[in-house]
Amino acid sequence: MASFKLLYTTLTLLALLSSSTFCSGFPSFHFGWGNGGGGGGGGVSRPIGGRKYSGLFPGFYSHTCPQANDIVMSVLEKAISKEPRMAASLLRLHFHDCFVQGCDASVLLDDHPTFKSEKKSVPNKNSLRGFEVIDEIKSKLEQTCPETVSCADILALAARGSTILSGGPNWELPLGRRDSKKASLNGSNKNIPPPNSTIQNLLTFFQRQGLNEVDLVSLSGAHTIGMARCTTFKQRLYNQNGNNQPDSTLERSYYHDLKSVCPKTGGDSNISPLDRTSPMTFDNTYFKLIMSGKGLLTSDQVLLSGNLGKTMELVKHFADDHVLFFRHFAQSMVKMGNISPITGYKGEVRKNCRRVN
Ligand code: HEM
Ligand SMILES: *[C@@H]1O[C@H](CO)[C@@H](O)[C@H](O)[C@H]1NC(C)=O
Ligand SMILES: *[C@@H]1O[C@H](CO)[C@@H](O)[C@H](O)[C@H]1NC(C)=O
Repeated sequence: MASFKLLYTTLTLLALLSSSTFCSGFPSFHFGWGNGGGGGGGGVSRPIGGRKYSGLFPGFYSHTCPQANDIVMSVLEKAISKEPRMAASLLRLHFHDCFVQGCDASVLLDDHPTFKSEKKSVPNKNSLRGFEVIDEIKSKLEQTCPETVSCADILALAARGSTILSGGPNWELPLGRRDSKKASLNGSNKNIPPPNSTIQNLLTFFQRQGLNEVDLVSLSGAHTIGMARCTTFKQRLYNQNGNNQPDSTLERSYYHDLKSVCPKTGGDSNISPLDRTSPMTFDNTYFKLIMSGKGLLTSDQVLLSGNLGKTMELVKHFADDHVLFFRHFAQSMVKMGNISPITGYKGEVRKNCRRVN
């Protein structure tokens, strides 16, 4: 009996998820269902990403630089064994790249006479990390396959590699992105969701990129690794709703622990793990913690408490089933990685990821 019920629940969930998840171009995930489908995209008005055909494909460097992924992985292994948090920092870099004029390595550019670096935006400043690791990967790739592997693809490869090395899923990764010749400080300030977002806000930011509520919940699962600064969750501890009260959805003992890391005044750059039970391991404890009121950011906890669409159910399902989470994370990463890539003769392959050629 019990297994019948389980089967039924699983099927319902599969129907729910497959109807709305996958609308990017390539069959992306080795062992996932619902691959070649395509399907809707959720009727979002003019999504930037999530197209049927992005122009990217996994074998893009098969002839021109077959060692590309091995080179990326060898640098990652060294960097992450030296500092496990680096995996989280690199995963986040790809996200902050893709949400600003697409996955085009704009996030890596330093200031230029004609544009300002995205590194100075509110979400990025004193926050983004890992640029030196990307530089090291780039210089190794330039030695082996000069002017071939784009910085945008390096970010995508590093995000996948970091996920794998932290214990998370592997997936087939479409490649062939080219690098932009400009950055957008504005775009960075406008398109990256703030940590105190409401659920409706979060969904709006994601829909603008052609991503849906399943992508929102699965990609938020990246917060199973890494750290956040006190300044990003202080509002929840002392004045969540302008009434000088803590966020009522924050579990009591966790609240007290957080106050010691993040005092009412000062301590803004003190850091706390996004997933306090296993901050270096890519697993589904992030969702389990949310289930018990221990999500660190408002944007984490509202996936459950916000009660919009299926997000609450998805948090529960991902907390119950790490395989399901891994599948969806992989699918949504491919979808995020397909946001408005530059292809063909547009853009360039930078020789140094920090500046245009
Ligand atoms: C849903 C909306 C999201 C919001 C509001 C958000 C916000 C944040 C914030 C505020 C931090 C801490 C930054 C700091 O203290 O300097 C952070 C860290 C992080 N974010 Fe997100 N994030 C979101 C989605 C994502 C996505 C989609 C990914 C990747 C797929 C991601 C990956 C990470 C990782 C891995 C870290 C830890 C970085 C480190 O330790 O260096 N986040 N995020
Ligand atoms: C950047 O933002 C400023 C102020 O919000 C605005 O005046 C300007 O047009 C924006 N530029 C771009 C390229 O979006
Ligand atoms: C989020 O934080 C910003 C900056 O501190 C603040 O201006 C804004 O009102 C906050 N939004 C919400 C919904 O609390």
